[in-house]
Amino acid sequence: MPASPIAAPDAAALAKLDLDRVRALSKRCVACPLYQLGTQTVFGEGPRGARILIVGEQPGDREDLAGRPFVGPAGRLLDEALVEAGIDRGEVYVTNAVKHFKWKPEGKRRLHQKPNAREIAACRPWLDAEMALVAPDIVVALGATAAQALMGAAFRVTKDRGRQFHPPWTRTFVATVHPSSILRAPPDRRDAERRAFVADLKRVAALGKVTGKCAPGKSR
Ligand code: URA
Repeated sequence: MPASPIAAPDAAALAKLDLDRVRALSKRCVACPLYQLGTQTVFGEGPRGARILIVGEQPGDREDLAGRPFVGPAGRLLDEALVEAGIDRGEVYVTNAVKHFKWKPEGKRRLHQKPNAREIAACRPWLDAEMALVAPDIVVALGATAAQALMGAAFRVTKDRGRQFHPPWTRTFVATVHPSSILRAPPDRRDAERRAFVADLKRVAALGKVTGKCAPGKSR
């Protein structure tokens, strides 16, 4: 019998399941039209119990084909910056606000399109379930789409990047720029942008050391 499509994912119900089961269910999501556009759902990956959960915008062309988040050019920059910041990507849970690639054809290329508020909201239960099941100490948003999806439309990465916030749904939230914005920066700005990105991640690394899951007295 074919598995039925999921038009209205329920974050609370999903959060009672195992992460692998939620990942499998996400493959059946039809909560917004993007499932018709992407090759597959690109769910997050990383250890359950990771201290740091990183949220990007949506899978890109490479991620859509590979079925894994941040494996293309932006992912390479992210990986290098994490190393420089002293963060092991293998210990981080990496995901996206939207789990399908939104694109439009341009010649032979698939050109990235920003997801809209409805698409972001439709995908939110999957992200909420991931955050509930991973239960990180720190949620890091990369770029405005992820930051605003989590903190509201008034949030400005330009103003508040690198700052700590303590919303009700996680212990600590930090936003920084999206690595794609560094790749798109004019050549004379790129190095400075990259250094600022690494500096933000170093702040996250330092927070991770302070609020570690094994810290005495921590309860969750
Ligand atoms: N950009 C994102 O926001 N996420 C990815 O997974 C890849 C590129």
